[in-house]
Amino acid sequence: MQHLLTHTDENRILHITINRPDKLNALNMTLLGELHALLEDYEQVDEVCGIIITGTGAKAFAAGADIAEFAHFNANEGCDLSARGHHIFNTIEHYPKPIIAAVNGFALGGGCELAMACHIRVAATNAKFGQPEVNLGIIPGYGGTQRLVQLVGKGKALELLMTADIIGATEALQLGLVNHVVEPEQLMPKCVEILKKISSKAPLAIEKIIQCVNAHFAGNHSGFDAEVKHFGECCDTQDFKEGTTAFLEKRAAKFVGQ
Ligand code: COA
Repeated sequence: MQHLLTHTDENRILHITINRPDKLNALNMTLLGELHALLEDYEQVDEVCGIIITGTGAKAFAAGADIAEFAHFNANEGCDLSARGHHIFNTIEHYPKPIIAAVNGFALGGGCELAMACHIRVAATNAKFGQPEVNLGIIPGYGGTQRLVQLVGKGKALELLMTADIIGATEALQLGLVNHVVEPEQLMPKCVEILKKISSKAPLAIEKIIQCVNAHFAGNHSGFDAEVKHFGECCDTQDFKEGTTAFLEKRAAKFVGQ
């Protein structure tokens, strides 16, 4: 694998580390493909009881989808990217073994969406969360418009999505976006402690808990479908070209509403 590091520890926990530190662990398509393949490989492996996903380094969990990779996309390519992301993040959400996001820095855009697709989120005190896509002329494309509402409620989700505000770990905890906040050196021990507790319970019952809780939200897929459609439409706008170009040129974007 090019962008992921993995190891299984003595507690039967698979550790997956996103490893693109020079790009703040931005999620490119190769990386997401590797993550999907890895999850499929371990789904039926009894020697693994749960998974922790984190990012290399102290600065970022993942700073979003790889902007350079999709900056030139048209509407169709944007829809395809979003649909593929949905498929992979749905695999995480419905995974039969518990998956914890150990958030060790920036979890922005697709990084925040990845954390939200996991079953539990533990944040280090230096973690930062946000959906800054509107700065780029787009919307979240990996389920963020839906899962953020599920976790923090409509009013706060709308504010975070429209302002692109980046919040710290304490506020994320207050909002219910994360389950726990711990000092950075306690991040992995805390995640391991939770998974050890879960792994002492009946695995089939755990799998069914995940299915039942997800079933609560299963009746309404139209929001996810709307996200794919509107993400694609954003890719055909002048503001998207301007927003992504401005990021890559390290300047502020000037939007015109077209
Ligand atoms: N996609 C692609 N590259 C990214 C990236 C992303 N989402 N986030 C960071 N990078 C790259 C930067 O382009 C830079 O690359 P370079 O050194 O080749 O120029 C490198 O990672 C370091 O980032 P930099 O912006 O220099 O770090 P910073 O500490 O000044 O700022 C952030 C950190 C997170 C505030 C800033 O990187 C950022 O805003 N990232 C984009 C967040 C975002 O919009 N995510 C949603 C994407 S859909």
